[in-house]
Amino acid sequence: MTQSTAQSIEDLTQTALGELALLDNSDALEQWRVRYLGRRGGLTSILRGLSQLDIDQRREVGALGNRAKSTLEEELEKRSQEVSQARLAQVADLERIDVTLPGRPVATGRLHPTTQVVREITDAFVAMGFSIVEGPEVEWDHYNFEMLNIPQGHPARDMWNTLWVDYVNEEGQRPMLLRTHTSPMQARVMESMQPPVRLVVPGKVYRYEATDATHEWHFHQVEGLAVDEGITFADLKGTLYEFARQIFGARRQVRFRCDYFPFVEPGVDMSIDCFSCEGTDSSCRICRGSGWIEILGAGMVHPYVLRAVGYDSEKYTGFAFGLGPERIAMLKYGIDDIRHFYSNDLRFLRQF
Ligand code: DAH
Repeated sequence: MTQSTAQSIEDLTQTALGELALLDNSDALEQWRVRYLGRRGGLTSILRGLSQLDIDQRREVGALGNRAKSTLEEELEKRSQEVSQARLAQVADLERIDVTLPGRPVATGRLHPTTQVVREITDAFVAMGFSIVEGPEVEWDHYNFEMLNIPQGHPARDMWNTLWVDYVNEEGQRPMLLRTHTSPMQARVMESMQPPVRLVVPGKVYRYEATDATHEWHFHQVEGLAVDEGITFADLKGTLYEFARQIFGARRQVRFRCDYFPFVEPGVDMSIDCFSCEGTDSSCRICRGSGWIEILGAGMVHPYVLRAVGYDSEKYTGFAFGLGPERIAMLKYGIDDIRHFYSNDLRFLRQF
């Protein structure tokens, strides 16, 4: 009995030490302690069996058991220290900075293609002495139409499919809308300042429109306005010609044709010669074989508009223009569908 108990103590000690050497974290060490030294652990239960032995054997094997217990406790302590030191070294290793490693690339965002083109457009005019102003997207009928020579019931209202705001005033009218163009800022600005006026108005506009590849219900415009004494149609042509060459390259030619907008007289549209085929390809996707691409509407500010804001239309003249940045971007970058601009598709956006 003595022999075999002594042997069990010896075996258990060897097994325990063998396992201990392989443990590498504090949870495993704690489980090991419970398994061998805990109240129901291996060594504890052997020692509990000692009461069966007679007094001499008990003393002998008891001493053996106590030594084994101290050995296991000491070795546990040692191993715990090794494990925690290894852990500290590992953390230090992770935190060490290796200055020879290549830097990690930082992902940066970018400007939306519309924003980029709006800035290119406004920059071109700022370089010619224009200032930038912005205005409200929720607008009054008064500024969006009335002040621009488009009275209630005027057939030209059909040129702008309007989103009306559901607000009824005391007279039972619905005078509020989402601006259909940036032109109302012409009236707002002139009302608040005297000539000379030279400004561009970038901003968002809204139309009650079924969407397709060339129509969106919201898009951008850049409005331009120059009013002073002695401004002529030659100033309009020179300014817009310079603009076209800034955006589409120094080789561009421009063409003006008559067009109708109620707030200008005469009104025109301006085209540039086709930068893609230069008029040589009768099946060109961009100009459809015509050799010309229409890029904006413009004209001499209508005397009605000048008078409506209190300007002396005998003394002052001016020109105005309006253009669509999305259309410009589509031409410049060969984008075939205006809906790409607001579909939030990163495959599209990352190309700019
Ligand atoms: N506001 C017009 C539109 O949305 C564009 C435009 C045409 C603006 C001629 C102008 C202009 O200032 O002179 O269709």
